[in-house]
Amino acid sequence: MSSAELRSGSDSATGGLEALAAQVGRGGVFVLTGAGLSTDSGIPDYRGRDGLRRVMPMSFGEFMGSRGARQRYWARSYVGWQRFRAAVPNSGHRRVADLQQLGLVDYLVTQNVDGLHQQAGSEQVEELHGSLAEVMCVTCGDRTARAHVQERLMLANPGFLGAVLDTLPGGSQVSSQIRPDGDIVVPDDAIGVFHPPRCLVCGADTLKPDVVFFGESVPKDRVERCFAAVERSCSVLVLGSSLAVMSGYRFVRRAAASGIPVAVLTRGVTRAEAEATLRVDAALGPTLDALVAALR
Ligand SMILES: NC(=O)c1ccc[n+]([C@@H]2O[C@H](COP(=O)([O-])OP(=O)(O)OC[C@H]3O[C@@H](n4cnc5c(N)ncnc54)[C@H](O)[C@@H]3O)[C@@H](O)[C@H]2O)c1
Ligand SMILES: [Zn+2]
Repeated sequence: MSSAELRSGSDSATGGLEALAAQVGRGGVFVLTGAGLSTDSGIPDYRGRDGLRRVMPMSFGEFMGSRGARQRYWARSYVGWQRFRAAVPNSGHRRVADLQQLGLVDYLVTQNVDGLHQQAGSEQVEELHGSLAEVMCVTCGDRTARAHVQERLMLANPGFLGAVLDTLPGGSQVSSQIRPDGDIVVPDDAIGVFHPPRCLVCGADTLKPDVVFFGESVPKDRVERCFAAVERSCSVLVLGSSLAVMSGYRFVRRAAASGIPVAVLTRGVTRAEAEATLRVDAALGPTLDALVAALR
């Protein structure tokens, strides 16, 4: 059967679900998740159904290029973090944990940096692009928890949060303004007075969330672990990713090249239409609920 025959309507997985259950039920699944899995938790995705990028996050080159860029990054991120850290897992994250509990998942890789898989009970998660909950110093390599940096920022910038929230449409209702990478657009004139963090070990102003920025590469050992997991898997299951970013797409390509079946459960356009042996264009929450129910 061709992947086109298995494509279903916009909000139901009818037709694809049976094939999905058959594939996942065989076990040994390499699961790759993306931003689409966290949209039901209030964290927006980058691309959406049309596959076009809505926001352009700061690149590594821009971040490292000037003190002003780092000040802007941290001012936005300081305000956005209070919303981002309050996000809670949705049923999609819980169903992925269920699939692990059922012993069907060999390896779980996420492109997300929000920690919601772990919060939903998934124990072994390869965070391909790192985590926003950790901060590292680009100069000396020291690592520290984001929560500590946030506290220091609060002490160094008294009144900043309240002043910025007052300027946003909707005031303290910042949830509607959160951007995919956990920041919020802050007015330019407010940014100039913000004190960004410095490294407590070496004093440099090069602290950066321990996530892979655009323009950076994923650490080699992570990539190698994922390739090895793809090679030993019985099948690949993509959940909520446009696969527009090569760092995730390459695993789908490797699977296709090795003759390993690839199921893509994501609403809208993806880059893997040619590689997918099973394509389900449907909402993740209800589809994963139905999948786990069929496999129990
Ligand atoms: N939550 C996060 O941590 C987060 C959020 C945004 C972006 N990012 C980063 O940005 C990059 C984005 O790439 P990506 O491929 O993961 O995301 P993407 O934004 O490119 O693609 C998300 C896909 O999921 C689909 N989708 C959204 N909600 C859905 C739902 N409820 N059901 C079914 N499909 C749904 C969209 O239509 C889209 O095709 C990643 O590298 C990631 O590190 C992370
Ligand atoms: Zn340092």
